[in-house]
Amino acid sequence: MSYDLVIIGGGPGGYNCAIRAGQLGLKTAIIESRGKLGGTCLNVGCIPSKALLHASEYYEAAAKTFPSMGVKITGLSLDLPQMLKQKEDAVDGLTKGVEFLMRKNKVDYVKGFGRIAGKGRVEVKLADGGSQTLETKNIVIATGSVPTPLPGVDIDEERIVSSTGALSLKQVPGKLIVVGAGVIGLELGSVWRRLGAEVTVVEFLDKITPTVDAEISAAFQRALKKQGMKFELGHKVAGVEKTSSGLLVTIEPAKGGPARTLEADVVLVAIGRKPFTEGLGLDSAGVKADPRGFIPHDGHFKTNVEGVYVIGDCTTGPMLAHKAEDEGIAAAQIIAGQWGHVNYDVIPNVIYTDPEVATAGKTEEELKAAGVEYKAGKFPMMANSRARTNHQTEGMVKVLEEVATKKVVGVHMLGSGVGEMIGEVCVAMEFGASAEDIARTCHAHPTMSEAIKEATKGVDGWTMQA
Ligand code: FAD
Ligand code: NAI
Repeated sequence: MSYDLVIIGGGPGGYNCAIRAGQLGLKTAIIESRGKLGGTCLNVGCIPSKALLHASEYYEAAAKTFPSMGVKITGLSLDLPQMLKQKEDAVDGLTKGVEFLMRKNKVDYVKGFGRIAGKGRVEVKLADGGSQTLETKNIVIATGSVPTPLPGVDIDEERIVSSTGALSLKQVPGKLIVVGAGVIGLELGSVWRRLGAEVTVVEFLDKITPTVDAEISAAFQRALKKQGMKFELGHKVAGVEKTSSGLLVTIEPAKGGPARTLEADVVLVAIGRKPFTEGLGLDSAGVKADPRGFIPHDGHFKTNVEGVYVIGDCTTGPMLAHKAEDEGIAAAQIIAGQWGHVNYDVIPNVIYTDPEVATAGKTEEELKAAGVEYKAGKFPMMANSRARTNHQTEGMVKVLEEVATKKVVGVHMLGSGVGEMIGEVCVAMEFGASAEDIARTCHAHPTMSEAIKEATKGVDGWTMQA
């Protein structure tokens, strides 16, 4: 078989690259080894985690918020198997949808494990047995990432789990210890806390979500604490011992000091993810990776080897599905002889807890470190009429504008549903908007997005509603 493009990996990077390549008339094949398209995101990442976050939010709201709204429920109970089933249904529907999109765009889907076997050749160990070699003008590596292991702690995906196991626990743990106060730990920690677990998060650093703007991160932690999540910041897990009745987790201060032991039923290890390129034949193909395993590119997704491109989690940049998707589109367009580009300054980042965190652009800490003069405008959700009406007053919006260019360079939000509001900000930033451009744009009333408008007014000192 001879192709214009062979993509190794069927996640959001790979499958969007395939769709765009198909649209542009490139003869394209996509190779995926897990038996389903959609990658980490659809199978064990974004989609199942959001399905559980959504359902568990309803469950908690039914118990704790509905009565104050005048909605009384008697006999409320959790049907965990059904909650897990509706999650699987969402995954199944979407992965089948991606298969349909491959057929629609005339992309060949090859089920198996791909290896670069030389210039323009990809050998596939087929899922059904045997192997097949694909000849191709171009190769895109889109092999994604896997959880970073914690040395000395063996994941069994039942009692000591990665995010994958934490998406399918058969019962609600009495005590859940989460290692790592990053996105996975706080999202999945929230799911199981809402369903009844006592959740303690052990984090190496002195703050949660270390890359988030410090003011937002501190407010976020206060919100999670109020909900009952416990934190052991500045601590690391030294070991986990399995006993017949549970787990004994030894933690010690990151800066040194006496160790303590915590009891748990389940431990979730969520200390980051690492690129996955095992068995891909990088060495024999001469494709270089950095010491952490990421395959760098030249800014146009080309690796150091002619005709070999890389996108998504296995290359540099944030490990996000929409970043992988945009890189896939750009790479396909470049391979088709068109223009392709990703603006890494405007990639939204959302943590789908309640309240949500949604950010784009630079934090105050980054601007200070870079010596960039900026003005900040802030607005508390407490003063937003819709937030008050909905009894969702936790959080704030913060807008940062660079003084020299008068452009919005960072927006940081905490609040219910802010993940849906960040899109507006990204469009504005892509068009080089000033805070005033957003402030003078008519926003519907009453909406939470008016909080963005008020915060942008604040940049020039004329916030009106607080
Ligand atoms: P992947 O999705 O990892 O896909 C790579 C695919 O390549 C895999 O299916 C793998 O089986 C396959 N593969 C690897 N090697 C080979 C080979 N040699 N041959 C054939 N196939 C191969 N991101 C967000 O933006 N929003 C979220 O809400 C979000 N939630 C997440 C929740 C969790 C629990 C996790 C773990 C991740 C989440 N992410 C989220 C991150 C997101 O899943 C990744 O950034 C995204 O999936 C990366 O896409 P990718 O295409 O680069 O790689
Ligand atoms: P993360 O990088 O977000 O957080 C890991 C946390 O673990 C950090 O706070 C880090 O300081 C801490 N840590 C590292 N080693 C530790 C140790 N030994 N002991 C205690 N703490 C330790 O990584 P996470 O949560 O595993 O997620 C991986 C990636 O998946 C994210 O970076 C993100 O790109 C992606 N993701 C995105 C989501 C979204 O967009 N909503 C949801 C889930 C994952």
